[in-house]
Amino acid sequence: MQYKVVLLPGDGIGPEIIGETARLLQVVVAQAGHAILFDERLIGGCSIDRYGEPLTDETLADCLSADAVLLGAVGGPKWDDPTAKVRPEQGLLRLRKEMQVFANLRPVVVHPALAHISPLKPEKLVGVDILVLRELTGGLYFGQPKGVIRNNGSLRAVDTLEYADYEIRRILHLAFQLARGRRFKVTSVDKANVLESSRLWRQIASEVSRDYPDVTLEHMLVDTASMRLIADPASFDVLVTENMFGDILTDEASVLAGSMGMLPSASLGEGRRGLYEPIHGSAPDIAGQGVANPIGAMLSAALMLRYSLNLPDQAAGVERAVNQAITEGCRTRDLGGNLSTQQLADEILYRLPGGHFLGL
Ligand code: IPM
Ligand code: MG
Repeated sequence: MQYKVVLLPGDGIGPEIIGETARLLQVVVAQAGHAILFDERLIGGCSIDRYGEPLTDETLADCLSADAVLLGAVGGPKWDDPTAKVRPEQGLLRLRKEMQVFANLRPVVVHPALAHISPLKPEKLVGVDILVLRELTGGLYFGQPKGVIRNNGSLRAVDTLEYADYEIRRILHLAFQLARGRRFKVTSVDKANVLESSRLWRQIASEVSRDYPDVTLEHMLVDTASMRLIADPASFDVLVTENMFGDILTDEASVLAGSMGMLPSASLGEGRRGLYEPIHGSAPDIAGQGVANPIGAMLSAALMLRYSLNLPDQAAGVERAVNQAITEGCRTRDLGGNLSTQQLADEILYRLPGGHFLGL
């Protein structure tokens, strides 16, 4: 096989972590007897600087013809002007929409050796293994109308939270299917005591659950869920929710893992093609210093190996190598250590099956 993967390093620490992750992918795919062809493009602020837009049609077309896309992060203070016409984040949102990757998988597991760096009591973190499934192409991020209305000198801003039944149904089906490979529990998070869109969400979640009698469905209000994520995180298995709730809850959940830098994500649609990105941002405060944690990006690459490249053994090999490196005390600064991005990447590559022969 020859795979084509588009690399979109983006802004801030993006290029640093994606560089190391591309190196890892190259090694792992070659070891499996396949070839991987990288096509590197701009997205976000760097694309605005170069082309005046955060995602060009050409780059988008490239992504739509690839086996998978690996993205670093977008945004930064340079492009943060709230009155700006073009914003880095628009590139990412357009890419998600055009790739039709409606399901964003964000697994949250706590490595026992890192439990002490989370602000939560270590005993609360025992057994935490959550799969957040965030709806990614609907809801408040995309609903119309959207915009600012000027009227008689006053301003009014509108965003719309809108869901069609099929959008809810397809992600709920996926939630139940994924729960069958795990602990058979789905928590559907909404705000049904206030929002119409949430009442439809809840109704469809209940309908879909009838197809999966072996899986337990629990409905939870988003405010309760945010509390429960801290008070009793081990009680969650699959947590499925709409776009913005998922955005907020996954930043909260990342605290359980000790660092934002640890968490990967996979965004999937109907086919095999996927978009893979760590959940952390561009971290402008540490960009360019070579100290960013590459693990979120590398675990995203593992998800790519599993879901888009159909190389599940290689995916597991990467996950084992990351776990082992952590167990053996390899740490970047966010984890309380002093390894550089490249040093931690070397430690992980060395622990891959056959990694001893890489001459690192
Ligand atoms: C994320 C990010 C993005 C989002 C931003 C950068 C647009 O926070 O992937 O969680 O809100 O989806
Ligand atoms: Mg976010």
